[in-house]
Amino acid sequence: MRAKIVAGNWKMNKNLSEAKALIKGLKKELKKVKLDKNTRVVIAPSSVNLRSAVNRTKKSVIEVAAQNVSHEKSGAFTGEVSVDMLNDIGVASSIVGHSERRTYYGETDALLAQKVDTVLGKGMEAIFCFGEQLEDRKSNNHFKVVESQIKNALFHLEATSFSNIVLAYEPVWAIGTGETASPEQAQEMHKFIRSLLKDEYGDKVADAMSILYGGSVKPANAEEIFSKPDVDGGLIGGASLKANDFIEIVKAI
Ligand code: 13P
Repeated sequence: MRAKIVAGNWKMNKNLSEAKALIKGLKKELKKVKLDKNTRVVIAPSSVNLRSAVNRTKKSVIEVAAQNVSHEKSGAFTGEVSVDMLNDIGVASSIVGHSERRTYYGETDALLAQKVDTVLGKGMEAIFCFGEQLEDRKSNNHFKVVESQIKNALFHLEATSFSNIVLAYEPVWAIGTGETASPEQAQEMHKFIRSLLKDEYGDKVADAMSILYGGSVKPANAEEIFSKPDVDGGLIGGASLKANDFIEIVKAI
């Protein structure tokens, strides 16, 4: 059975003391929740706060992921963080290809393919994000755009590599806008994504893949979105910054 995952992408929010307070709140609230064995709870703080987050979540179910990682292993790449550095402090997972990285930092499918290889090469997990812009959806090109994002960055991989990949469909028009894809729109896209995997790699890979939805998920809409058969959880931005909201979303899975 594939994992259900609720992951919080904190983006460029929370300094150290705020991060500590949020983790404290999450641990407190999580104690009251009976989590299914199959459910994972992940937080992605900024890189400077990862080490503290790992230390503070050691005795809890909370897993810590990075928001970004270099495609290079080491060397003269000013400002970058390597997979070795993450692995060394106990971070086993990284978000790759978030739309904000694609838009503001020019990350291309080709670069993201390299990032995925570097992450998997270290035995780590990649939470691979993709999603169409509003104009793609308006022009009915959303399936084509998502298909090429996935194929270009992932379809050079062997089937076995997919056990270390989580997919996150985040339509750009729904990120931070308060506008969510309807549960039907999310389901339709997730089903399409699973069919791409099925066609290329077969049922086993497709059925085992956790596909998360991201874009204005809130306590009020999480349950309905998560009720769809091909939606295996969420990648949460704004609502992951408050312990109560995030845990309400965890409860909805
Ligand atoms: P919001 O939940 O704030 O829309 O952000 C979604 C997101 O980008 C998660 O990676």
